[in-house]
Amino acid sequence: MAKFTTLLALSVLAIQAVAFPQHQPLAGLTERELEDLLPRFKPVVPPPPPGPPKDTSVKLVNDKDHPYEPLRKGDIRGPCPGLNTLASHGYLPRNGVVTPAQIINAVQDGFGMDNELAILLAYSTMLTDGNVVTNLMSIGQKTPLTGPDPPAPAIVGGLNTHGTFEGDAGLTRADFFFGDNHSFNQTLFNEFVEFSNKFGGGVYNQTVAAEYRFFRIQQSTAENPTFTFVTPRFVTAYRESVFPFIFFVDGRKADGQLSMKDAFGFFNESRMPDGFHRADGSKTADLVGNASDAIFAAHPVQPGANAGKVNTYTPDPNSPTDDCGLYETFVNLMVKQYPNPQGVLRTNLNLNLGFFFQGFPGCTQLFPFGQ
Ligand code: HEM
Repeated sequence: MAKFTTLLALSVLAIQAVAFPQHQPLAGLTERELEDLLPRFKPVVPPPPPGPPKDTSVKLVNDKDHPYEPLRKGDIRGPCPGLNTLASHGYLPRNGVVTPAQIINAVQDGFGMDNELAILLAYSTMLTDGNVVTNLMSIGQKTPLTGPDPPAPAIVGGLNTHGTFEGDAGLTRADFFFGDNHSFNQTLFNEFVEFSNKFGGGVYNQTVAAEYRFFRIQQSTAENPTFTFVTPRFVTAYRESVFPFIFFVDGRKADGQLSMKDAFGFFNESRMPDGFHRADGSKTADLVGNASDAIFAAHPVQPGANAGKVNTYTPDPNSPTDDCGLYETFVNLMVKQYPNPQGVLRTNLNLNLGFFFQGFPGCTQLFPFGQ
């Protein structure tokens, strides 16, 4: 606690010193935003994750309480069209700085994602991209809005951080090697449309997802000398490929066929179609599991990476492919950033680790900092 308090005091001083008028890290923040910001820089005890909702029914989610609003100056968006959309409709704070509990509630309420997957995603990213002391995470770039950073090698870089959760061969986001790994990329979206025309008769569905996932792996192998496709990216990439035809399709239709117009709205504009209804939350866990297995089976690939040159993809037999391996990999990625945490940092890492483990029933719990 002492360490954090000192860090906190220093950071507040630093912020006061640089706040006016045009200093870099805080550029874009108004005086009012700073006033809101400073009191939030407190260590918090993270609450346990919300459980599954009682109501998982198909229902209107682009409603009058959650209208789309365009970005205001300083609002943050990132590589995930799901979270971007939830922020632009007010299911998440519109500024893009969020807590794990807010993420879990938002993905359940707004899209019908199941509790276990929501927990897995929210805490894997919190532990590797978020500030566990203030319990805040950016859904995009690094920002002072998450509070003072714990000491390096902690990154606290938000979801844009490459190599923690964000990875190569995304659907509409370019590989980190090419510069911008988080913004909507029109060239890639054109490919996405081309594949949807060729394999889906103009819509994105499971068949298209299988072909486009495989193509993006081949494309990165051929064009990105640093292409890396080991776990966690190996596992998350297959899941992300199926999310669009499960969560971005209106729940009243739920036929797994996503129109290009609606896809463009979610991927580029962070916007739900008018009258959009969420998916049936009692079905999405099975749908995601089965569909990601199916698209993998269509073109099995082993985890691996290019060896510093294009077209040198080398399988990595040590990269796990199962859920427990995914869990272990995230824990190890976290420990790299927090080799010897103390005080509130250690306490909160342990709490978050415990919450994260709830996303992996059946695996063996790890206690990197002792029990
Ligand atoms: C539950 C919390 C979630 C977290 C923490 C999260 C995080 C992320 C991150 C970090 C990426 C970038 C990975 C990459 O491509 O390199 C991503 C991509 C993606 N996410 Fe999410 N996500 C969440 C929920 C959702 C939901 C609910 C949806 C759908 C409604 C969704 C749809 C997608 C899609 C389609 C991509 C691929 C984007 C692309 O490559 O074009 N995600 N997510």
